[in-house]
Amino acid sequence: MRILVINGPNLNMLGIREPDIYGKNTYADLCTMIESYAKEKDFDVKIFQSNHEGSIVDEIQAAYGNYDGIVINPAAYTHTSVAILDALKSVAIPAVEIHISDVSKREDFRQISYAGMACEKSFIGLGFDGYLRGIDYLLNK
Ligand code: DQA
Repeated sequence: MRILVINGPNLNMLGIREPDIYGKNTYADLCTMIESYAKEKDFDVKIFQSNHEGSIVDEIQAAYGNYDGIVINPAAYTHTSVAILDALKSVAIPAVEIHISDVSKREDFRQISYAGMACEKSFIGLGFDGYLRGIDYLLNK
Protein backbone atom coordinates (compact mmCIF):
# COMPACT_ATOMS: atom_id res chain seq x y z
CA MET A 1 0.00 0.00 0.00
CA ARG A 2 1.40 3.37 -1.07
CA ILE A 3 -0.09 6.42 0.60
CA LEU A 4 0.49 10.05 -0.32
CA VAL A 5 -0.10 12.62 2.42
CA ILE A 6 -0.62 16.16 1.14
CA ASN A 7 -0.61 19.23 3.37
CA GLY A 8 -1.63 22.65 2.13
CA PRO A 9 -0.52 26.18 3.03
CA ASN A 10 0.69 27.15 6.47
CA LEU A 11 0.60 23.61 7.85
CA ASN A 12 4.41 23.80 7.87
CA MET A 13 3.85 26.47 10.55
CA LEU A 14 2.20 24.04 12.97
CA GLY A 15 3.49 24.60 16.49
CA ILE A 16 3.91 28.32 15.72
CA ARG A 17 0.59 29.24 14.07
CA GLU A 18 -2.42 29.81 16.31
CA PRO A 19 -1.54 27.16 18.94
CA ASP A 20 -4.94 27.63 20.61
CA ILE A 21 -6.53 26.24 17.44
CA TYR A 22 -3.91 23.87 16.03
CA GLY A 23 -1.96 22.85 19.14
CA LYS A 24 1.69 23.18 20.08
CA ASN A 25 3.05 20.17 18.20
CA THR A 26 5.14 21.05 15.16
CA TYR A 27 4.97 20.03 11.51
CA ALA A 28 8.10 17.91 12.09
CA ASP A 29 6.19 16.14 14.90
CA LEU A 30 3.33 15.44 12.49
CA CYS A 31 5.72 13.98 9.89
CA THR A 32 7.48 11.83 12.52
CA MET A 33 4.13 10.53 13.74
CA ILE A 34 3.04 9.54 10.21
CA GLU A 35 6.42 7.98 9.35
CA SER A 36 6.42 5.93 12.57
CA TYR A 37 2.90 4.75 11.78
CA ALA A 38 4.05 3.70 8.30
CA LYS A 39 6.77 1.52 9.88
CA GLU A 40 4.34 0.07 12.43
CA LYS A 41 1.61 -0.73 9.86
CA ASP A 42 4.01 -1.53 7.01
CA PHE A 43 2.90 0.86 4.26
CA ASP A 44 4.89 3.21 2.03
CA VAL A 45 4.32 6.90 2.59
CA LYS A 46 5.33 10.19 1.03
CA ILE A 47 4.52 13.40 2.87
CA PHE A 48 4.25 16.53 0.72
CA GLN A 49 3.60 20.10 1.84
CA SER A 50 3.15 23.18 -0.32
CA ASN A 51 1.88 26.71 -0.01
CA HIS A 52 1.08 26.75 -3.74
CA GLU A 53 -2.20 25.57 -5.21
CA GLY A 54 -0.67 24.58 -8.58
CA SER A 55 2.07 22.54 -6.89
CA ILE A 56 -0.60 20.61 -5.01
CA VAL A 57 -2.44 19.98 -8.30
CA ASP A 58 0.86 18.80 -9.86
CA GLU A 59 1.49 16.44 -6.94
CA ILE A 60 -2.00 14.93 -7.20
CA GLN A 61 -1.59 14.40 -10.95
CA ALA A 62 1.83 12.78 -10.42
CA ALA A 63 0.22 10.37 -7.93
CA TYR A 64 -1.71 8.69 -10.76
CA GLY A 65 -0.45 5.12 -11.08
CA ASN A 66 1.98 5.60 -8.19
CA TYR A 67 -0.20 5.72 -5.07
CA ASP A 68 -3.14 3.69 -3.78
CA GLY A 69 -4.55 6.34 -1.48
CA ILE A 70 -4.34 10.07 -0.76
CA VAL A 71 -4.68 11.73 2.64
CA ILE A 72 -5.16 15.44 2.06
CA ASN A 73 -5.42 18.46 4.31
CA PRO A 74 -5.72 21.23 1.72
CA ALA A 75 -5.79 23.82 4.55
CA ALA A 76 -7.19 27.16 3.29
CA TYR A 77 -7.48 25.78 -0.27
CA THR A 78 -10.16 23.44 1.08
CA HIS A 79 -12.59 26.33 0.97
CA THR A 80 -11.57 27.87 -2.36
CA SER A 81 -9.96 25.41 -4.74
CA VAL A 82 -11.99 23.87 -7.53
CA ALA A 83 -8.62 23.03 -9.14
CA ILE A 84 -7.70 20.67 -6.27
CA LEU A 85 -11.20 19.13 -6.39
CA ASP A 86 -10.84 18.54 -10.14
CA ALA A 87 -7.33 17.07 -9.72
CA LEU A 88 -8.59 14.58 -7.11
CA LYS A 89 -11.47 13.63 -9.43
CA SER A 90 -9.07 13.33 -12.39
CA VAL A 91 -6.83 10.72 -10.78
CA ALA A 92 -9.72 8.96 -8.99
CA ILE A 93 -7.38 7.61 -6.28
CA PRO A 94 -9.30 6.90 -3.06
CA ALA A 95 -8.87 10.03 -0.95
CA VAL A 96 -9.71 11.18 2.54
CA GLU A 97 -9.87 14.74 3.85
CA ILE A 98 -8.30 15.80 7.14
CA HIS A 99 -8.73 18.94 9.21
CA ILE A 100 -6.91 19.31 12.50
CA SER A 101 -9.43 21.83 13.83
CA ASP A 102 -13.19 21.40 13.90
CA VAL A 103 -13.98 23.55 10.88
CA SER A 104 -17.72 22.94 11.39
CA LYS A 105 -17.56 25.16 14.49
CA ARG A 106 -15.51 27.95 12.88
CA GLU A 107 -16.18 30.84 10.46
CA ASP A 108 -18.83 30.68 7.74
CA PHE A 109 -16.17 30.75 5.00
CA ARG A 110 -14.79 27.46 6.32
CA GLN A 111 -18.14 25.67 5.95
CA ILE A 112 -17.63 24.68 2.31
CA SER A 113 -15.08 22.03 1.36
CA TYR A 114 -14.43 21.64 -2.36
CA ALA A 115 -11.76 18.94 -1.92
CA GLY A 116 -14.09 17.09 0.42
CA MET A 117 -16.48 16.55 -2.50
CA ALA A 118 -13.89 14.22 -4.05
CA CYS A 119 -13.04 12.43 -0.78
CA GLU A 120 -14.59 9.24 0.54
CA LYS A 121 -14.38 10.35 4.17
CA SER A 122 -13.56 13.40 6.25
CA PHE A 123 -11.76 13.34 9.61
CA ILE A 124 -12.34 16.70 11.21
CA GLY A 125 -11.42 18.17 14.58
CA LEU A 126 -9.39 15.17 15.77
CA GLY A 127 -6.05 16.97 15.88
CA PHE A 128 -3.08 15.05 14.45
CA ASP A 129 -4.90 11.78 15.16
CA GLY A 130 -7.18 12.55 12.21
CA TYR A 131 -4.28 11.72 9.86
CA LEU A 132 -3.90 8.25 11.42
CA ARG A 133 -7.65 7.63 11.29
CA GLY A 134 -7.64 8.64 7.62
CA ILE A 135 -4.73 6.30 6.93
CA ASP A 136 -6.55 3.48 8.79
CA TYR A 137 -9.59 4.03 6.59
CA LEU A 138 -7.47 3.65 3.43
CA LEU A 139 -5.56 0.63 4.79
CA ASN A 140 -8.82 -1.14 5.68
CA LYS A 141 -10.47 -0.56 2.31
C1 DQA B 1 -7.32 23.42 8.47
C2 DQA B 1 -8.60 24.25 8.53
C3 DQA B 1 -8.61 25.31 7.45
O1 DQA B 1 -9.81 26.06 7.50
C4 DQA B 1 -7.44 26.24 7.63
O2 DQA B 1 -7.40 27.19 6.58
C5 DQA B 1 -6.14 25.54 7.77
C6 DQA B 1 -6.08 24.30 8.53
C7 DQA B 1 -7.23 22.40 9.64
O3 DQA B 1 -6.44 21.47 9.52
O4 DQA B 1 -7.93 22.55 10.65
O5 DQA B 1 -5.10 26.03 7.33
O6 DQA B 1 -7.32 22.69 7.27
